[in-house]
Amino acid sequence: KISANTSFIGKSVIYMPSCHSTNDHVGTLLSQDKNLKEGTIVLTPEQTKGRGQRGNTWESNPNENITASFLLRPQFITARNQFQLNVAISLGVFDTIHHLAPSGTKIKWPNDILVKNKKVGGILIENFIVGQNISHSIIGIGLNINQESFVGDFPATSLFMESNKKFQVPRVIETLLENIENRYLMLKNEGYDRLRQEYYSHLFWYHETGSFQEILPNGEINIFEGQILGVNENGCLSIGDESGKIRHFGFKEVKHLY
Ligand code: BTN
Repeated sequence: KISANTSFIGKSVIYMPSCHSTNDHVGTLLSQDKNLKEGTIVLTPEQTKGRGQRGNTWESNPNENITASFLLRPQFITARNQFQLNVAISLGVFDTIHHLAPSGTKIKWPNDILVKNKKVGGILIENFIVGQNISHSIIGIGLNINQESFVGDFPATSLFMESNKKFQVPRVIETLLENIENRYLMLKNEGYDRLRQEYYSHLFWYHETGSFQEILPNGEINIFEGQILGVNENGCLSIGDESGKIRHFGFKEVKHLY
């Protein structure tokens, strides 16, 4: 059913009528066969225990959206540069949505895809490190395509809700795989600089002044004004505060206030 115009991502497709988590399933396949081919993808129309970043869950109505994971072997990326992989994958997902949604597609650090401030897609990258480098990575992508409504605290949307059009999920998967492979090969062959510039150009709140909420080690909350200046080599968000100081934050340490 999937015939993407790629050289390796999605050349081998494993379709599951239902599954707990496609990320976990790629992990299971890998434990059964250490030589599992790079680019092998697990697709399912129904995920029953979808996982998000930071231990969150990922909810997706059956048959309406994309829930898929594939295997990469990015051995050219060092463990300390692993954020570069996030950037390449985020741009591949961004390209896909940007092309199909009318306007307002952004990347929210580290790798949420937003349309008009609402989340349309999420990425869960699990890297396995051997020595100084990544040995392999399981890349999971959830993209909301045809779902008509969402419940939950965080504002979510789908391509349907933004465009009033229904999409053929397999065709969107093909475009997605093509865009991701393209971005991944750019990173591999041309290096990180251009990808970083493009990531910044689509980054939500980049160089705009806004309020941020910081969670201090003692659990207290501090609110400050600042501007996102970029992402450092460790993948931490760099924010310039009112006093002109540049501060760096890890995944759970800061939140934009809308
Ligand atoms: C996030 O935004 O927190 C990441 C969400 C990632 C969801 C996808 S759906 C396919 C794959 N399998 C999972 O269990 N999670 C990812």
